[in-house]
Amino acid sequence: MTESLLAVRGLSKHFVSGNETVPVIEKLTFTLDQGQSLALVGRSGSGKSTLLNLLCGLESPDAGTIVMQGQVFDAGSAATREKAAAWASLRRQQIGVVFQEANLMPALTLLENVRFRAQLAGRDPANSEDWLTRLDIGELAQRYPDQVSGGQRQRAALAMVFAMEPALILADEPTGSLDRQTAAEVAQVLFDLQARYCCGLILATHDAELAAGCQQLLDLGHLSAL
Ligand SMILES: Nc1ncnc2c1ncn2[C@@H]1O[C@H](COP(=O)(O)OP(=O)(O)OP(=O)(O)O)[C@@H](O)[C@H]1O
Ligand SMILES: [Mg+2]
Repeated sequence: MTESLLAVRGLSKHFVSGNETVPVIEKLTFTLDQGQSLALVGRSGSGKSTLLNLLCGLESPDAGTIVMQGQVFDAGSAATREKAAAWASLRRQQIGVVFQEANLMPALTLLENVRFRAQLAGRDPANSEDWLTRLDIGELAQRYPDQVSGGQRQRAALAMVFAMEPALILADEPTGSLDRQTAAEVAQVLFDLQARYCCGLILATHDAELAAGCQQLLDLGHLSAL
């Protein structure tokens, strides 16, 4: 039996808006195996980013558990210093995050960004330049993020993530700000590298083609769309 990389059980999260309680994620259960990819889809406001934020520890769940590599993250984890530190350490070393924008530190060159992320994860940064080359932006290594295009920034963000050798990649609309052609190229690189390095991938997207490239589909929109 394949062991799950990630197991989410009964996960719930609500937000409070004025006097209103807005349930966003309700008793969500799913698993992701090593090397598998999952697309999060659903209309705007259905909770895709919230789920990614829960998975990378930026938000705490109200109920339910997230288990990854034997570490449990639940409603009580954030309040317990040891558990919070253990989860933060797992995140730093094993979870790579790609957002639509603002993945790079503006004061660092592309190469310094990649080296920094690798070091943060405790990896050898020696291969950082190779990663930029593999992503076809090797010649831009000494440029700063504001000196390259959006598509090139997304490639650099992917180089950062792969240089940390993560077990799991979380991507929130990673191609959302790109034109169709560049989006397709960036998506291809992401899927190729994910398959080659056998990491898990969860991506949130409104792009049906990108979602179709994933092995599993999780539709968060079907309830709120009723
Ligand atoms: N910090 C917050 N406080 C209050 N409500 C929030 C907060 N963050 C998100 N929400 C609400 O939770 C719901 C889900 O938001 P979320 O950003 O997860 O949606 P999404 O599926 O990622 O949407 P999109 O496709 O537009 O990116 C929305 O109704 C949003 O307004
Ligand atoms: Mg979102």
